Amino acid sequence: MTAMVKAEGVHKSYGAAHILKGIDLEVAPGEVFCLIGPSGSGKSTFLRCINHLEKVNAGRLYVDGELVGYRQKGDKLYELKDSEVALKRRDIGMVFQRFNLFPHMTAVENVMEAPVQVKGESKAVARERALKLLDRVGLGDKSGNFPSQLSGGQQQRVAIARALAMEPKLMLFDEPTSALDPELVGDVLDVMRDLAESGMTMVVVTHEMGFAREVGDSLVFMDGGVVVESGHPRDVLTNPQHDRTKAFLSKVL
Ligand SMILES: Nc1ncnc2c1ncn2[C@@H]1O[C@H](COP(=O)(O)OP(=O)(O)O)[C@@H](O)[C@H]1O
Ligand SMILES: [Mg+2]
Repeated sequence: MTAMVKAEGVHKSYGAAHILKGIDLEVAPGEVFCLIGPSGSGKSTFLRCINHLEKVNAGRLYVDGELVGYRQKGDKLYELKDSEVALKRRDIGMVFQRFNLFPHMTAVENVMEAPVQVKGESKAVARERALKLLDRVGLGDKSGNFPSQLSGGQQQRVAIARALAMEPKLMLFDEPTSALDPELVGDVLDVMRDLAESGMTMVVVTHEMGFAREVGDSLVFMDGGVVVESGHPRDVLTNPQHDRTKAFLSKVL
């Protein structure tokens, strides 16, 4: 089976700062793959490499069997054009810590926007799907609300619906609940759990160890730009093998 994400010796530097130092990992289709690690360890950078918001400096990254950002001919690599990169990025949904909804658009308009603008879908079709998606994330009655009329947790659920509207084959979550008040976290995690149960492939950077343990299929602990330890979430969380993992978990668990 083709991996949904495959990283082989991925390196990334910003100037002299060597951030990712050879990441190897594989995410199977349908898998919920959790990524944990201290601040600054390169988690966001790695997610950004997956959808080619950042270029890797060495190594290879594949999404669904296709090289990210490049075309291979023989043993030479050719960089894809921006338009080609944009086309591939459509297949990858991304949800950030900050929801970045368009403030002047209602919830349903936010969710319709990309299918209409990027895919040229008709407004009627896009609206119908958007309403279904809002219903799915528990916001069927809020479709006409502007972001300012929604709580942070509701805005994040709109952001998830917005990503799903492009019918992605892979969803990337970068600390999706970190900016939320504690009482709003559960609803967002419930939506993510539901999405996982529907078979979506998800890479989730999170500090929610309960979610990782209950929903995750795999878990990677990253520190200093390397994968320190990986395995089934229950194993890594309850029986970490490395001192760095133990030290990190003792702070967050
Ligand atoms: N665009 C950038 N330019 C320079 N340095 C960056 C940039 N983005 C991230 N970094 C640095 O890369 C390191 C890893 O950052 P990041 O991937 O955001 O870590 P994490 O998400 O694990 O907290 C940090 O030291 C950060 O300052
Ligand atoms: Mg980050």
